[in-house]
Amino acid sequence: MTIPALPLGKAADGTPVEMPLLGFGTWQLRGESAYQAVRDALEAGYRHLDTATMYGNEAEVGRALKDSGVPRDEVFITTKLPPERAGKERRTIEASLRDLGVEAVDLWLIHWPPHRGRSVKVWQAFIEAREAGLTRAVGVSNYDNGQIDELTAETGQTPAVNQIRFGPALYDPAVLAAHRERGVVLEGYSPFKTTNLHDPALTRIAAAHGVDPARVVLRWHIQHEIVVIPKSKTPERIARNADITNFVLTDEEMRAIDALGRR
Ligand SMILES: NC(=O)c1ccc[n+]([C@@H]2O[C@H](COP(=O)([O-])OP(=O)(O)OC[C@H]3O[C@@H](n4cnc5c(N)ncnc54)[C@H](OP(=O)(O)O)[C@@H]3O)[C@@H](O)[C@H]2O)c1
Repeated sequence: MTIPALPLGKAADGTPVEMPLLGFGTWQLRGESAYQAVRDALEAGYRHLDTATMYGNEAEVGRALKDSGVPRDEVFITTKLPPERAGKERRTIEASLRDLGVEAVDLWLIHWPPHRGRSVKVWQAFIEAREAGLTRAVGVSNYDNGQIDELTAETGQTPAVNQIRFGPALYDPAVLAAHRERGVVLEGYSPFKTTNLHDPALTRIAAAHGVDPARVVLRWHIQHEIVVIPKSKTPERIARNADITNFVLTDEEMRAIDALGRR
């Protein structure tokens, strides 16, 4: 089994964009530890990296990718625009591309909704960046349904992805359905920070599969087709978190984990 990918439509050059369901998160990784963690992640098999202008590590992520020898077109790269850069979108993505050492990213997200009234203008600049081939897809982060609908209504273009805080304890089928209805891929962040990894439901299921609860949480996301981007600076955890293709959660186990969201 390999990690599946979700379609995000087509890039400006007509090629399909595919987003792997498992990515490697890089928030709070800086300098040499960011470089080493990304090297370890690529070695462990991750083919999706999540960074942001705000993380201050794009140069290390780019250098790790280059030194890894993994071909650029085999890795999905996301970066994000800090909302305070509204009005300076083009300069910001050009700096990201320079630091990452790539010609285009795969996904560019508005990191957080800009102050009232500025969201649509930023979104228009995002659409232009996609048309110019600087990013293959565009999306948002930390948006609610109403904020997504405003972008669609004003521009006719719906974000391909919404990256939001997510995990079993935040599971709400209505949130998932609202994204699906709009054709927006739900990408969850902070899967471990939002989860009690000692919860008896998770430890029971983990024991049944001979894995740790962290992997159960990641597998649960994948089976719901929710993109998940765990972060770690620990080599053993980086490798273990990617090792989630050789077990499958049963329907009963999926429902038991879903129920953590109703507690
Ligand atoms: N769009 C946004 O606003 C936003 C906000 C937050 C995060 N994100 C993205 O989402 C990514 C993930 O979220 P996150 O970094 O907040 O949190 P996370 O991935 O939920 O948790 C990271 C923490 O979990 C620990 N950990 C990793 N693997 C583990 C395992 N197998 N067992 C137990 N603990 C484990 C890590 O420790 P060690 O590192 O010490 O191993 C670290 O302390 C970020 O890195 C970033 O790329 C986006």
